[in-house]
Amino acid sequence: MTNEITINNDRFTLYLSEEQIQKRVKELAARINEDYRGKVPIFIGILNGSFIFFSDLVREISLDCEVDFLKLSSYGDAKISSGQVTLLKDLNCQVEGRDIVVVEDIIDSGLSIDFMKKLVMRENPASFRVVTLLLKKSVAKVNFPIDYVGFEIPPEFVIGYGLDYAQKVRNLKSIYRLAPTEK
Ligand code: IMP
Ligand code: MG
Repeated sequence: MTNEITINNDRFTLYLSEEQIQKRVKELAARINEDYRGKVPIFIGILNGSFIFFSDLVREISLDCEVDFLKLSSYGDAKISSGQVTLLKDLNCQVEGRDIVVVEDIIDSGLSIDFMKKLVMRENPASFRVVTLLLKKSVAKVNFPIDYVGFEIPPEFVIGYGLDYAQKVRNLKSIYRLAPTEK
């Protein structure tokens, strides 16, 4: 495992190792298995960022469950949010009366998850919960609880484990953060 990577002259340092992430994913899944005992939740992944976390998480789920995906875009190729959320692919499942668990890679401004919640609630689910691997709590403006949080992190740009930098580096097994620039 490398401790440092450079992309487009930006230096990133190791932040959360593969082992730390995998341990936390198992802990989150164990809580979900407990909380949803006897139910058949639908896990909804928000593409593209959550695809790796999503697939690791659902493989630790021992319940009967279904999966679906929705694609949102807010970042484009930039390192900061555009403030605009666009629906690029809608859900295909029937939400009404179902227990919905939305799976996010990271909640930053909270705009995407807010958009997502409104979209799902219109279809009258039996319940709605959110699991996110990362939460930038100091930035996120959401007026509902984020039920399962992997790691609370400072408001820094992070990459790897599904998170991209201009669409690249999603395939890294660990999470890296942007290193401060040297003056
Ligand atoms: P929000 O709408 O600002 O909460 O941002 C949500 C989406 O922006 C996430 O699902 C990610 O795909 C992306 N994002 C937010 N912060 C980062 C980051 O630090 N690195 C890479 N992508 C990020
Ligand atoms: Mg995302």
